[in-house]
Amino acid sequence: MSKPLTILGIETSCDETAAAVLRYEDGCATLLSDVIRTQLAEHAPYLGVVPEIAARAHAELADLTVAAAMNASGLSYADLDGVAATAGPGLIGGVLVGLMTGKAIAQAAGKPFIPVNHLEGHALSPRLSQDCPFPYLLLLVSGGHCQFLDVRGLGDYRRLGSTIDDAVGEAFDKVAKLLSLGFPGGPAVEAMARSGNPQAHDFPRPLLSRPGLDMSFAGLKTAVARAAANAGTDVEKADICASFQAAICDVLAEKTGRALESFDAGTGDKRLVVAGGVASNKAIRAALETAAQAQDARLIAPPLRHCTDNAAMIALAGAEHLAAGLGDADGLVSGARPRWPLDEASAKADPVFGAGRRGAKA
Ligand code: KG4
Ligand code: ZN
Repeated sequence: MSKPLTILGIETSCDETAAAVLRYEDGCATLLSDVIRTQLAEHAPYLGVVPEIAARAHAELADLTVAAAMNASGLSYADLDGVAATAGPGLIGGVLVGLMTGKAIAQAAGKPFIPVNHLEGHALSPRLSQDCPFPYLLLLVSGGHCQFLDVRGLGDYRRLGSTIDDAVGEAFDKVAKLLSLGFPGGPAVEAMARSGNPQAHDFPRPLLSRPGLDMSFAGLKTAVARAAANAGTDVEKADICASFQAAICDVLAEKTGRALESFDAGTGDKRLVVAGGVASNKAIRAALETAAQAQDARLIAPPLRHCTDNAAMIALAGAEHLAAGLGDADGLVSGARPRWPLDEASAKADPVFGAGRRGAKA
């Protein structure tokens, strides 16, 4: 039996200001509070996240959000064993707000501070609520990333393949913009796709026939742009959304099948984890479920609330690092990192795409 750890987690890397208090004991996580304040309304008029607006909103909301999470947990700072905050990758203004807030609380309360990689938060997110032991194959699909990772253990991540241009969430957001569906794009495209015909347009499935696990979505987006130019009615828009989503599902399912085929599960069962904002898409989850079943693998996906950005996953990453003795002794002097790939070795070998094309968002 290990000593229980109580961790405050803070997330501010994009457009959600979030704080959570988590208790971690013998590999099990219990959430004592989980507060997420979205900035959707502030960014919606611009159809995308505006970094300066995000940074200002985080500065206004960070203290209030942390106070709300602490109140809801019924604990005081003295009861904590550590404070964890996202230190990157992300929009630098927002990351700095969360990082400085976390460091200040840790220093004032005399607790260790654990800087967390936001991508690692997503990678560990299914472990918040489900039995999901290492190793597992991870498909990380968010607004800034689309990659397969071999998750061998805590801190041991190997990139197996990734997009060579747009991230999947980015493609969803661009399609929504082309069709004037509003922001955020992913849920809007998914909702519209429900009433559309997925066979109405034969959109390309880039890199599908090429070996390997790399993906590409820029050509698909261009094809959608051409179709969108002639789409006026809601029926036409729904057909485009359904056909676009079907193309994405086909690419992700085929590449996932290939990744699972060669995945080394050790002595245990094969597990496929899908995480990140796009993992909340039900059509994509269903396509991945089919791909996993074909390889006798189990699909594990976090609940919708923990697919998109949240602080519970940051608190969990902090707790797991602290429990494993990987807590950064110099956490207080750690800096904010706008780019921070999970698999640093692969990223060094491939500096352009290793951190995701945008590199700034997760
Ligand atoms: O992980 P996340 O919350 O944040 C960052 O990327 O930092 O992911 C957000 C992305 C956005 O691109 C959003 O459009 C996409 O996830 N997304 C979805 C859905 N919900 C969110 N994409 C497709 N279908 C959805 N239901
Ligand atoms: Zn994210």
